[in-house]
Amino acid sequence: MKKKATIVKIDSEHMDAEVIRRAGRIIKDGGLVAFPTETVYGLGGNALQESSSRKIYAAKGRPSDNPLIVHIYRMEDVERLTDEVPAQARQAMEHFWPGPLTVILQKSAEVPYSTTGGLETVAIRMPSDAVALALIEAAGGFVSAPSANTSGRPSPTLAAHVAEDLQEQIDMILDGGMVGIGLESTIVDFTQTIPTILRPGYITQTMLEAVLGEVKYARLLPEEEARSKPRAPGMKYTHYAPKAPLTIVEGVPEAVVEYINQQIEMRRLQGEQTGVMTTEESLGSYPHAIVKSLGDRTSEASIALHLYEVLRQFDESSVTQIYSEEFSSAGIGKAVRNRLLKAAGHHIMHV
Ligand code: TXA
Ligand code: MG
Repeated sequence: MKKKATIVKIDSEHMDAEVIRRAGRIIKDGGLVAFPTETVYGLGGNALQESSSRKIYAAKGRPSDNPLIVHIYRMEDVERLTDEVPAQARQAMEHFWPGPLTVILQKSAEVPYSTTGGLETVAIRMPSDAVALALIEAAGGFVSAPSANTSGRPSPTLAAHVAEDLQEQIDMILDGGMVGIGLESTIVDFTQTIPTILRPGYITQTMLEAVLGEVKYARLLPEEEARSKPRAPGMKYTHYAPKAPLTIVEGVPEAVVEYINQQIEMRRLQGEQTGVMTTEESLGSYPHAIVKSLGDRTSEASIALHLYEVLRQFDESSVTQIYSEEFSSAGIGKAVRNRLLKAAGHHIMHV
């Protein structure tokens, strides 16, 4: 087994240039560095080097036909990754970059198939996090980075989450503290006639439509998903699943609380513990469960920021079943619902 990755604290306002240089060098030389972005922590490798992608897949335990996002630090570098930027893609990039938007374009010859999972298209993103941008530049400008979690686990929102999953597998972890958003970037496919959202995120359909006109959502039926290349990301593979089964309970609030408490009691009689995901307002509603708050019910942003952290906390507890209340799907709430449904394997209880 390799020696453990060093965890280096980094302050985005007073960045240690030497640390960034060292981290960039590791990636240039074919190694792996985990780093903060505004969405979730990424696991960075050299996007133009075949062997780096293989290392990323191995470290994450991820199927190698699930493509990686190439991260850049300046707009003009898009031209090396694609031969043709459609007008709408250009508008979106100019409006939302740097930021939590990933665009799918036709790939140029320079992008290895190992990065795109064999696809003719490439996913590109320019993050806004200052540490991320500095690292990408120091690493030569093209960093492929999936979320820095073991495949199937919730994405990391803290450096400690990265260490939990990957410390033995990678070379360095840059610890920039907690991320700002907590869910992965919005992915938009610009190779379609109408731009198509493949993964919802902080940048919503409404925000995109204000700039681009009509924007669609990709819809894949479960049977199609199983057969297809991962056109709609994360759909083909299990994602974000906590160890204990998760059920989303929907209905009028009083009925939801009553149903969940009944389930808690039934489990207690069998000597088992139940976890509940709720918000500040309802922390006191489940006296006999392990209750975790995702934040303020009126703030979709706080729920987004804490979702993965709470799912990980349940993995450390002894609960054998988790229930989640439903949350508002306004704004980033739509992305929260998307991730929560995946974590629950689409298991919803209507009461
Ligand atoms: O916010 C984010 O996007 C984070 C941070 C680290 O930047 N990265 C991230 O990467 O979420 P990852 O690998 O966990 O998710 C990328 C998703 C995958 O589900 C993959 O299927 C999809 O993007 N993807 C990548 N290239 C694609 C392509 N050419 N066509 C369709 N989907 C693609
Ligand atoms: Mg991921």
